[in-house]
Amino acid sequence: MTDPRKVRVELGARAYDILIGEGLLAQAGKLIVPFAKRQRVFVVSDETVWGLHGEALQAGLANEQIEAVSLAAPAGEQTKSWAQLGSVLDWLLDNGAGRDDVLIAFGGGVVGDLTGLAASLMKRGMSFVQIPTTLLAQVDSSVGGKTAVNTGHGKNLVGAFYQPRLVIADTGLLKTLPERERRAGYAEIVKYGLIDDPEFIEWLEVNGADVVALQADAIAKAVAVSCEAKARIVAQDEREGGIRALLNLGHTFGHTLEAANGYGSALLHGEAVGTGMALALRYSVRAGLMNGQDAERGCRVLAASGLQTELSKLDGGPYEAGDLAEAMKQDKKVRNGRVPLILARGLGKAFIYPEADLADVKLFLQEELGKS
Ligand code: NAD
Ligand code: GLY
Repeated sequence: MTDPRKVRVELGARAYDILIGEGLLAQAGKLIVPFAKRQRVFVVSDETVWGLHGEALQAGLANEQIEAVSLAAPAGEQTKSWAQLGSVLDWLLDNGAGRDDVLIAFGGGVVGDLTGLAASLMKRGMSFVQIPTTLLAQVDSSVGGKTAVNTGHGKNLVGAFYQPRLVIADTGLLKTLPERERRAGYAEIVKYGLIDDPEFIEWLEVNGADVVALQADAIAKAVAVSCEAKARIVAQDEREGGIRALLNLGHTFGHTLEAANGYGSALLHGEAVGTGMALALRYSVRAGLMNGQDAERGCRVLAASGLQTELSKLDGGPYEAGDLAEAMKQDKKVRNGRVPLILARGLGKAFIYPEADLADVKLFLQEELGKS
C-alpha cells in the first residue's frame, strides 16, 4: 500500500494523528506499538464489524505479537446505553485492564462513542485508539473527542470530551458497508463544504458519486479533507464554546427528525443530518440571509447521492410541525422560545445564528411538510 495520508489534530499535550489509507488494518500492530506498554490490547466492536473484519484486525496486531482481548456488542444505536457502558467497564475490570493498557474502538460511531466514554471512565482514563469502520465515523465521529451514551432522557446526554491517542481510518473497510450507510456518511462530508469550503462543494459536484462508490482516490481525498476540516475546528474550540457549533449544521433539524423516529433505523443519523442541512439552507433563504439558487445548489449536492432533501418526502415519520418544534425545545440551548441554529449566508458561509424564533421555525416546517 502507499503511505497513509496523515492529518494532525493540534491539541497540545493531547494532539494526535489521523491516518487515512486503504489496507491500514494490516499495519495495526506497528501503528499501535508506540502506545502499547503490553503485548495485549482491548478491543470493543459490534457483532457485525467483528464478524466481517475481526480476524483481519487480529492478524494486523499479531504482526507485532500483540494479542487482542475482544468484546463484540450488538450492532445498532441501542448499544449506546448505560447497560452496555457498564458491561464494557466490568469486562475491562474482569480482565485486569489498567490505565496504561490500550482500548481500541473498532466500529462505527456507536462503538466509538460508547468505547470512548468507557476509556474516559476506566480508572479515570485509559489510552484510547479509534479504528472507525463506517464512512460517518471516518469523517466525523472518530475525530474530536466527543463520547457519549443515550439515556431515557435523550440522545448523547451523558458523555465526556476524551480524545483518542490515534485514529486509523482504513478506507478499505468501507467496501463491506451497505450503500445506505455510505450515503449517510456522505452527508457529513458535504457538511464540511457547506460550512466553509466552497471549493470542496465544487469538487463534490464533480466527484461525489465516486466518493459514495468508494473510488480509491476520491474516497481518500474526501476523508482527508473532512478530517482536516474537523481537526481545524476542534483545534480552535475543543469543548464547543464557540465555532465548534458550526459542526452542528443541519443537526438541530436532524435531531428532531431522529427523535420523531425514536432514533430507530427508519432514519439513520446521517440521513437526518442530510435533510436537516437542506432545511437549514432553505430556512436561511426564508430569513433573507442566502439566495435561493445557492440553497438549491447545496441541496442538489446532497440529493445527487440519493439523500432526501425534501421533508415532505422523507422516509420514516409521521412528521408533524408542532411535534418537531416541540422536540426542538429539548435542545440544551433553547431560551425563551428561541433556539440557536447554524445557518448560512451562502455556500461555504455557515455561521451561528444565535436566536431563531421557534414559532417561526414551526411555520417554516409546516410549509415544508405541505410541499407536494
Ligand atoms: P453505527 O456505528 O451504528 O454503524 C452503522 C451500521 O454499520 C451498524 O449496523 C454497523 O454494524 C455497521 N457497520 C459498521 N462498519 C461496517 C463495515 N465496515 N461493514 C459493514 N457494516 C458495518 O452508525 P454510524 O453511522 O457509524 O454512527 C452513528 C452514531 O455516531 C450515532 O450514535 C451518532 O450520535 C454518533 N455520532 C457521534 C459523533 C461524535 O462526534 N462523537 C459525530 C457524529 C455521529
Ligand atoms: N459532530 C459534531 C462534533 O463533533 O462537534
